[in-house]
Amino acid sequence: MAFYFLSFLFLSLISLLQHPLFSTSTTLHTTSLFRSQLTTQLDSSSNNNNNATPTTYFEVTKPINLPKTKPFSYLILQHDFAYTYGKPPILANYTPPSNYTSQKFSRIVLEWNATCKGRQFDRIFGVWLSGVEILRSCTAEPRANGIFWSVKKDITRYYSLLMTNQTLVVYMGNLVDSTYTGVYHVKLFIHFYPVEDIYSDGKKNPKYFYEAFDTGADLILPISRNFPLNDGLWFEVENSSDVVSKEFKIPRNAYRAVMEIYVSFHENDEFWYSNPPNEYIRANNLTGTPGNGAFREVLVSVDDLVVGSVWPFTVIYTGGVNPLLWRPISGIGSFDLPSYDIEITPLLGKILDGNTHKISFSVTNALNVWYIDANLHLWLDEKSVKTEGKLLKYNSLPLSFALVTNFTGIDGSFLTNASRSIALTGWIKSSYGNITAKSTQGLSYSNYMVAGNEGNLQIVDQVNYFNDTVDFMMASSSVKSLESFKKFSLLLYSDNVDKGDESYASISNVTLGFDDRRVKTSEYGSLASSTENMQKAQGDILVKGRLVVSGVGSTQQVYKYKDDEYCYSRNISSSNYTILHDKVSDSCPRSTSSCRPFNFM
Ligand SMILES: *[C@@H]1O[C@H](CO)[C@@H](O)[C@H](O)[C@H]1NC(C)=O
Ligand SMILES: *[C@@H]1O[C@H](CO)[C@@H](O)[C@H](O)[C@H]1NC(C)=O
Ligand SMILES: *[C@@H]1O[C@H](CO)[C@@H](O)[C@H](O)[C@H]1NC(C)=O
Ligand SMILES: *[C@@H]1O[C@H](CO)[C@@H](O)[C@H](O)[C@H]1NC(C)=O
Ligand SMILES: *[C@@H]1O[C@H](CO)[C@@H](O)[C@H](O)[C@H]1NC(C)=O
Ligand SMILES: *[C@@H]1O[C@H](CO)[C@@H](O)[C@H](O)[C@H]1NC(C)=O
Ligand SMILES: *[C@@H]1O[C@H](CO)[C@@H](O)[C@H](O)[C@H]1NC(C)=O
Ligand SMILES: *[C@@H]1O[C@H](CO)[C@@H](O)[C@H](O)[C@H]1NC(C)=O
Ligand SMILES: *[C@@H]1O[C@H](CO)[C@@H](O)[C@H](O)[C@H]1NC(C)=O
Ligand SMILES: *[C@@H]1O[C@H](CO)[C@@H](O)[C@H](O)[C@H]1NC(C)=O
Ligand SMILES: *[C@@H]1O[C@H](CO)[C@@H](O)[C@H](O)[C@H]1NC(C)=O
Ligand SMILES: *[C@@H]1O[C@H](CO)[C@@H](O)[C@H](O)[C@H]1NC(C)=O
Repeated sequence: MAFYFLSFLFLSLISLLQHPLFSTSTTLHTTSLFRSQLTTQLDSSSNNNNNATPTTYFEVTKPINLPKTKPFSYLILQHDFAYTYGKPPILANYTPPSNYTSQKFSRIVLEWNATCKGRQFDRIFGVWLSGVEILRSCTAEPRANGIFWSVKKDITRYYSLLMTNQTLVVYMGNLVDSTYTGVYHVKLFIHFYPVEDIYSDGKKNPKYFYEAFDTGADLILPISRNFPLNDGLWFEVENSSDVVSKEFKIPRNAYRAVMEIYVSFHENDEFWYSNPPNEYIRANNLTGTPGNGAFREVLVSVDDLVVGSVWPFTVIYTGGVNPLLWRPISGIGSFDLPSYDIEITPLLGKILDGNTHKISFSVTNALNVWYIDANLHLWLDEKSVKTEGKLLKYNSLPLSFALVTNFTGIDGSFLTNASRSIALTGWIKSSYGNITAKSTQGLSYSNYMVAGNEGNLQIVDQVNYFNDTVDFMMASSSVKSLESFKKFSLLLYSDNVDKGDESYASISNVTLGFDDRRVKTSEYGSLASSTENMQKAQGDILVKGRLVVSGVGSTQQVYKYKDDEYCYSRNISSSNYTILHDKVSDSCPRSTSSCRPFNFM
């Protein structure tokens, strides 16, 4: 069951919904078909809308910081995604800009432009270059008059990959039949922005470690599934004991390594943060309610040593909770799912031996299904064929976890708290010197869930913190450090009323947001940035089967970014497809002489 609050509907309604919910998928014997199992027929029925202009959906985020140069733009793929589910991914040959040899680019941007018309569910998709994932995203749900959406992503960090021939792979599992008619027409572009001044910006051969730190990796290894495959290249984690892994080998002259992890959750775990504990499900004889409680963590291991943990942001896909909330302002992260970086430089000494090693992923408490893969970013020492290193210290305490349940019958509350910390220290000797790297991760989580109104009401209040720091030291003085403090929050409120005739009315309020503060320091100063992004949404719908037959959704969002040189903010709201108010500012508040967010230097 994918609609998170269905799990709390009255038993009679649950049994009613079981069949209509899965009737289509059984004939196809697919379990990973409907990602968010609601779409609307609101405007499909009104034929007078057919000539109206398409609606443009978008996700609120800050614009990409571009140089003033004119980009070289290439259409790298054009494809119509009709019945693509369970078929091989779409492939294309990627070649770098033919005349790049004399050019250096300061920014490279991926642009996904798509249209769709009719009725369709939201679909997850991924874009890979020779197995390295560069975008994980969710489609927008179409309307009868058609929709358009565009996603732009800064992909400069994949520079080294983009400069050589690769195989481009796009997988989107779409299904088309007489009811779900939407075909996604997609154009994928890459824009290469040359540097403004090749002398000031040409950091090709960094002299010092702190400079090298800020360049893209020299080599990016895919930690994803190989061809041939009738699916995305992501691994699928289906339950809590499922471990997926891939063997890899790194060049012997690496001096820095960062693992970038892409994660998305679907079907029984699409709304994992609203899954009740199993004892509650058992006590109430609930069937078809996804359980295992509301805590999930993605564990990342290298050769059976846990090196990182990801407690993911609660991305709500475009059909999630109430699809009308996300029109036209899409949910945070839905068009460009976040990836998570784990610095594993301290561990390099263990994997520089020229032998094969293994990276594996598992998800604590997982239900079917999690899509996970990773990219291993490696920095190579041009001046040596062999670096050396050693892991000095490894501290990883077991997960601290507490669950307090308090329920009588189908109403009650559950409090889940968890925390974890991981710290790695190791040295690595390259032509930059003997550098000691220390990386730490500190995570904490709290989820308070209430089931009320005879199981028809559900409230989820979740917050998690994720601190991570990286410190590079040489002869006990810091050369470079990076600290990041993240807070993810979610407040969900939903109340349903059975309307008989296989339909129900639903009220839902969502507050979804994150704060992200980063400080980068070297002996030459420090750079701080902060992002605050918060959405509030309220909706009221009537649902029959899997279709929203009437209703309305409203969303307000405030996005604020600032760093030492640049500020951006947007305050926007919409209701029933219409933008009510939209205020954008890219100047820093005048109250401070500079917009430096922290008194740091
Ligand atoms: C590079 O190639 C592209 C497309 O082939 C072309 O549009 C562009 O003008 C070229 N740039 C230079 C500097 O030659
Ligand atoms: C993608 O769509 C946007 C919005 O309509 C448009 O401005 C942009 O030019 C399109 N991109 C390309 C490369 O055509
Ligand atoms: C890259 O691909 C292009 C076009 O297929 C081909 O002409 C070129 O030789 C390839 N380059 C390399 C290094 O393989
Ligand atoms: C977990 O999933 C794996 C992969 O599908 C399967 O082999 C295994 O039997 C499952 N384990 C349990 C306990 O269901
Ligand atoms: C659950 O099922 C058991 C056995 O069929 C029954 O004794 C019990 O009363 C049921 N509990 C509820 C809450 O329906
Ligand atoms: C459990 O819930 C009931 C009903 O809401 C409340 O009265 C009681 O104080 C709760 N008990 C605990 C230990 O929280
Ligand atoms: C759980 O975490 C919350 C938020 O940090 C805290 O207020 C609460 O005291 C914790 N409860 C338990 C039982 O640990
Ligand atoms: C590098 O520094 C570490 C910590 O100071 C030290 O233990 C190690 O022996 C040094 N390695 C080399 C090759 O000098
Ligand atoms: C994160 O860092 C802040 C500020 O240093 C600290 O107050 C908080 O306890 C840390 N949280 C975790 C989970 O490490
Ligand atoms: C849900 O949102 C509506 C509209 O803003 C508001 O009237 C209502 O009080 C909210 N309910 C809750 C429980 O937050
Ligand atoms: C956003 O705009 C609304 C409407 O003008 C206003 O009420 C609200 O205070 C603004 N929020 C922020 C954080 O500026
Ligand atoms: C939403 O907008 C449509 C037109 O786009 C209109 O027909 C409908 O009545 C509106 N619904 C509400 C609840 O405002």
